[in-house]
Amino acid sequence: MALEYRRYKPEECEFVPVALAEEVPPGERLLLTIGDIDVVVFNIAGQYFAIEDRCTHDDAPIGDGELEGYTLVCPRHGARFDVRTGQVLAPPAPAPVPAFPVQVHDGRIEVGIPRQK
Ligand code: FES
Repeated sequence: MALEYRRYKPEECEFVPVALAEEVPPGERLLLTIGDIDVVVFNIAGQYFAIEDRCTHDDAPIGDGELEGYTLVCPRHGARFDVRTGQVLAPPAPAPVPAFPVQVHDGRIEVGIPRQK
């Protein structure tokens, strides 16, 4: 069975400013908490991506993991996630991580967090 993954659409989200764009240059990442969600934001070759900083294997942080292209490797047991979508690319993670839209507005990085329903 194919794993479902969840990439939130911008229209579902409220955008929260998290940093100046110049503070996260290409190759860098930012770990932060928005509300009660731990988030990691990556700048990969000038494009920003954000996923929840929580491995679905045992809920450990993944934000410090090694990045290979667009693939983040969980530092604990090696699950792999596509930071563009949150999709699992390799086990043992059983499910994808949420991926949040990112925009740059007035020089600030803004992460889209799903609105509470
Ligand atoms: S905690 Fe990430 S693979 Fe186990």
